[in-house]
Amino acid sequence: MKGALAACRGVVVAYGEGEATVRALDGIDLTIDEPDSVALLGRSGSGKTTLLHVLGGLVEPTGGTVEWQGRPLATLDAAARGALRAHGIAYVFQGGNLLPHFTAFENVAFAAHVSAADADPALAPAALLALVGLAAKLDHLPAELSGGEAQRVAIARALAQRPQLLLCDEPTGHLDSDTGERVLELLEALQREFGFALVVATHDADVAARLGRAVQLHDGRVLAAEVAA
Ligand SMILES: Nc1ncnc2c1ncn2[C@@H]1O[C@H](COP(=O)(O)OP(=O)(O)OP(=O)(O)O)[C@@H](O)[C@H]1O
Ligand SMILES: [Mg+2]
Repeated sequence: MKGALAACRGVVVAYGEGEATVRALDGIDLTIDEPDSVALLGRSGSGKTTLLHVLGGLVEPTGGTVEWQGRPLATLDAAARGALRAHGIAYVFQGGNLLPHFTAFENVAFAAHVSAADADPALAPAALLALVGLAAKLDHLPAELSGGEAQRVAIARALAQRPQLLLCDEPTGHLDSDTGERVLELLEALQREFGFALVVATHDADVAARLGRAVQLHDGRVLAAEVAA
């Protein structure tokens, strides 16, 4: 174990004011090590997506601190935070969130361009798409892909950033259980190959059981002690 990659300390995210305040996160303490593989479990509205957003620096907490490699994110300037989102942290959004007018190849190439990832041929867009089993679908638009294929493009796109931390929001949520299982196997194989830390928000206890740790959220709090799978 190389040490803490990301950490939340007493993180609160509150929306609204006065009586109407919703605490999406209500005092979260969580450390993501390198390498690590963590499932975020919990009912709809328990705070899983908010926690991913906070870890990724997309949402600033109302209270507490989020650290990246021991440094509070709030102390990073905008350029440093942008660089972190470009290289350090990648997202796989629920349903893929691909650019609809770009092909599979272009979606991945665009991410590689934005993150200015170096020219490692193993991480070239076509190589990444081959890695996720889509060598024959480079020219397909998202509308011409199945749900599982689109999810795999989204994974290839995230890998094009060469992330140290990969955040996945319900990566198997829209998929049948066999396809979901294959997406998860793929994530695990890629994690072995590339060594990123993996955090997966999921409703699915079977998904969570396969990952190294499970963190159960309830009303924005960590409910259960972390259980080794
Ligand atoms: N931008 C926002 N403004 C106001 N309330 C919000 C906002 N984002 C999230 N919330 C609220 O915060 C709580 C946590 O939401 P979050 O999206 O993190 O839940 P979740 O666990 O990801 O749920 P799901 O399983 O349905 O995706 C919910 O009560 C939600 O309504
Ligand atoms: Mg969510």
